[in-house]
Amino acid sequence: MTGEAGYHTPAMPRQALELLGAASGGDFLDATVGGGGHSRALMELAPHDTKLFGLDRDGEALAEAARKLSVFGKRVRLERGNFRGAAGIFRDIEFDGVLLDLGVSSHQFDTPQRGFSCDRDGPLDMRMDSREKTTAAHLLEASDEDELARIFRRWGESKYNRRIARKIVEQRREKPLQSTAELADLIRKAVPRQSERKNVVQVFQAIRIAVNDELAALQEGLEQLFGILKSDGRLVVISYHSLEDRIVKRCFVELASGCVCPKGLPLCACGRKPRAEILTRKPLRPDTAEVESNPRSRSALLRAVRKLAGGDSAGEQA
Ligand SMILES: C[S@@+](CC[C@H](N)C(=O)[O-])C[C@H]1O[C@@H](n2cnc3c(N)ncnc32)[C@H](O)[C@@H]1O
Repeated sequence: MTGEAGYHTPAMPRQALELLGAASGGDFLDATVGGGGHSRALMELAPHDTKLFGLDRDGEALAEAARKLSVFGKRVRLERGNFRGAAGIFRDIEFDGVLLDLGVSSHQFDTPQRGFSCDRDGPLDMRMDSREKTTAAHLLEASDEDELARIFRRWGESKYNRRIARKIVEQRREKPLQSTAELADLIRKAVPRQSERKNVVQVFQAIRIAVNDELAALQEGLEQLFGILKSDGRLVVISYHSLEDRIVKRCFVELASGCVCPKGLPLCACGRKPRAEILTRKPLRPDTAEVESNPRSRSALLRAVRKLAGGDSAGEQA
């Protein structure tokens, strides 16, 4: 399901903007600006002196965001880059709110030439940033059986990871895999009939995560993005599967935890203070109406934190 101009329909915009505090205005960073759907909704809601900074690693996304946000003129600044390096990209700027809407946009997914979808035949690419060297084809060609099985197990949670990896290695001795249809076909042949669809989806997800180094980028990105918030600023993250959500949850729990001294010490010796307040005790989910009108939002999980005064460091360590 795609939205206006067919690019991407943003997930959970109402909840995201509310938790960002968009209505109060300020300086905001949309660190996965994509087609600019969330950003535009934010700018329409926020007071007229609000500034929006948008970041994405995908050049096509930025072109669409520039088009969609052009009405806001100089109040919008767009940059191409990876959010894992956000602090270096937005030097000297501190934000009132940062949004991270993870994963792939509908446009990326629905464009066969990008190679993300197992339902559309295209080259084995899957790069979010076309300037990167490693494509899915390179990964499938260069990794040994153990490495492939590990990728499919860890990032796709595929039960048949070893069988699929072995089949890929056998196949590429004859001819390297070149298209998404060839890969999907090969996976189907490696697993029992009733598990075909599930494993195709799992392995495509795993390869995409590996090609874009998505989970390491998320881990590093969360720390960087929290670091460039003002005190009282909000970090809102929408993730789409349990591997992402686990990283976000752990990071937020860590930011919100204070003293780590062993129980029973009469006085705190670690000096550690909570850096953040968790605003969503459990992840928020889209409501039924949203899932009906935008089925791709169904797996969305939204978590948010607020930076506390002094939240730039955890305090003195013992
Ligand atoms: C779900 S889409 C965002 C859609 C956007 N919220 C909207 O309303 O149009 C995710 C976007 O994040 C981008 N992205 C994913 N990982 C990234 C990273 N590490 N750094 C920068 N952009 C990233 C993708 O290129 C994609 O455009």
